[in-house]
Amino acid sequence: MKEIKTIGVAGAGTMGAGIAIVCARAGLRTRVFDLRQDALDSARSQTEGFLRKSVERGKLAIEKLPEIMGQWHGTTRLEDLADCDLVIEAVFESLPVKHDLFGKLNAICRPEAIFASNTSTISITEIAGGSGRPDRFVGMHFCLPAQLMKLVEVSPGLVTSEDTFSLAWAVCEALGQKPVRTQDTPGFVLNYFLIPFNNDAIRLVEQGVAEPADIDLAIKTAMGYAMGPMELLDLIGMDTQKLLCEAMHGITNEPRAACPPLVRRMIAAGWLGRKAGRGFHKYTDSKMYGA
Ligand SMILES: NC(=O)c1ccc[n+]([C@@H]2O[C@H](COP(=O)([O-])OP(=O)(O)OC[C@H]3O[C@@H](n4cnc5c(N)ncnc54)[C@H](O)[C@@H]3O)[C@@H](O)[C@H]2O)c1
Repeated sequence: MKEIKTIGVAGAGTMGAGIAIVCARAGLRTRVFDLRQDALDSARSQTEGFLRKSVERGKLAIEKLPEIMGQWHGTTRLEDLADCDLVIEAVFESLPVKHDLFGKLNAICRPEAIFASNTSTISITEIAGGSGRPDRFVGMHFCLPAQLMKLVEVSPGLVTSEDTFSLAWAVCEALGQKPVRTQDTPGFVLNYFLIPFNNDAIRLVEQGVAEPADIDLAIKTAMGYAMGPMELLDLIGMDTQKLLCEAMHGITNEPRAACPPLVRRMIAAGWLGRKAGRGFHKYTDSKMYGA
């Protein structure tokens, strides 16, 4: 495998913060880029909190904590990603935003650097089309919460080279993740199921069929899931859920993928989920799951 020493993570939100933990924990120099300094500050303090909890639970040796934090470098300057061998993008679920970012990164990063997108629903081939290096572009879809979940859906676009795909696959394994190959289709495997499923759960709440806590209890008890759909949605965030629905519904026209009106009302109320302290449930603990 081509040596990957430095990974850039663009976007320090829900997913970027978790992906950066996975990279830094694997001993790689991790440059975390966000436009907002407060997002970087929050990601760094959540990372420290998560690692402290891991130590308390006996899952991490205490001396590893400063080592991992030493690999974590936050920046609001895109130029600081110039030495990255791989950049994993986790910014807003919007094609123009992603194109703008990759266009700038293409001018800054070395030609041999690989670009990856953590998109849930947008076509890898389409994002790659604005990257200036579509053959060195691949989908790497981590699952929420990335710092705990092992799955990464690795998806080649139409012009992704086999070398790029193999490298992304090898990186996943080096990070201790479990890669699964999927085609470049809306939602890949996981969100093909999850987006309509979560929307069905929201519609049950809208219709007054059951309270969020009861829906979670029913699904967890019957299906053995660690989290119910309302808890998962609170972690995903209503703002992100809306973008995911719009992207998926826009491509597939699947009625169950359409954004339920309740999501828009919750966004208007500021009930974005765990990160806002309130979504379908109320939270007083950390914004990061598992911390
Ligand atoms: N939340 C989920 O459940 C989930 C799961 C898997 C994949 N994803 C995907 O991951 C990506 C990010 O989702 P999220 O939930 O972490 O979003 P988020 O809103 O929590 O975080 C996005 C971050 O990106 C930053 N950002 C926006 N534009 C930027 C730019 N041009 N340059 C640098 N930073 C920028 C924002 O400041 C914010 O901190 C999306 O593509 C989404 O589809 C989300």
